[in-house]
Amino acid sequence: MANQGLLGSTIARKFAMALSALFLIVFLLQHMSINMLSVFSADTFNEVSHFMGTFWLVQYVMQPILIFGVLLHFILGFILEYKNWSSRKVKYANYKGSANASWMSRNMIYTGAVILLFLGLHFYDFWIPEIAHKFVEGKDSFIENGVADSGYRFYHELRHKFDGDIVRMILYVVSFIFLGLHLNHGFESAFQSMGARSKKYTPIIKKLGTAYSILIPLGFIVIAVYHYVTQL
Ligand code: HEM
Repeated sequence: MANQGLLGSTIARKFAMALSALFLIVFLLQHMSINMLSVFSADTFNEVSHFMGTFWLVQYVMQPILIFGVLLHFILGFILEYKNWSSRKVKYANYKGSANASWMSRNMIYTGAVILLFLGLHFYDFWIPEIAHKFVEGKDSFIENGVADSGYRFYHELRHKFDGDIVRMILYVVSFIFLGLHLNHGFESAFQSMGARSKKYTPIIKKLGTAYSILIPLGFIVIAVYHYVTQL
């Protein structure tokens, strides 16, 4: 009975972990796509950022869900890792992880921890100033002194972060490589935990996962390197 309870809550945790992962997978796709606009057109990037930053559904519904999803994912990840670690210690005194699991799947906690550190820097760079600007200082989206492009400040601020800052650019790029490693196992694993496991679908999910885990981080790398290199 006690075991069943424990199993039940482990399954619930895995399910919640996978659900938050799928949400984050969708978020990353849209986040990368919108930021990629900054490479091609300052005006379009500004317009879309302004829309995302002012549309009530994004601001007051999607953004709180996203922040909750990020926190839930990290907290559950640490709990799952701790549970796995303690049960391995008891059950398999001579457990050899490398024999039956990929490097990526065995090191999700470490690649995840690097992403968490990155998010600390990233929130300090973009999110906290944005929240302070809007909700503390009560200002709008326009550049106050001088209009460089469509008049919104988003493009200007993104450029400014990478202006001559090689350390920030490298920290971002290294984090995106870890993000790729995390997604390489995480994408497939999230679908499996949701029950999408069959002869027909598993190979497709594997291929999609590989493509996603390469293309999304690569897109982010292009954005960071582009804004650094074009301001040299
Ligand atoms: C070069 C790459 C990236 C750039 C230029 C970038 C840019 C931004 C900007 C400008 C914001 C503020 C949006 C706002 O609230 O107005 C933001 C927020 C955020 N970013 Fe990124 N980002 C990048 C990569 C990433 C990655 C790889 C992740 C996740 C691993 C991430 C996660 C987030 C989250 C969770 C938020 C807060 C939610 C939101 O406001 O949309 N970002 N990012």
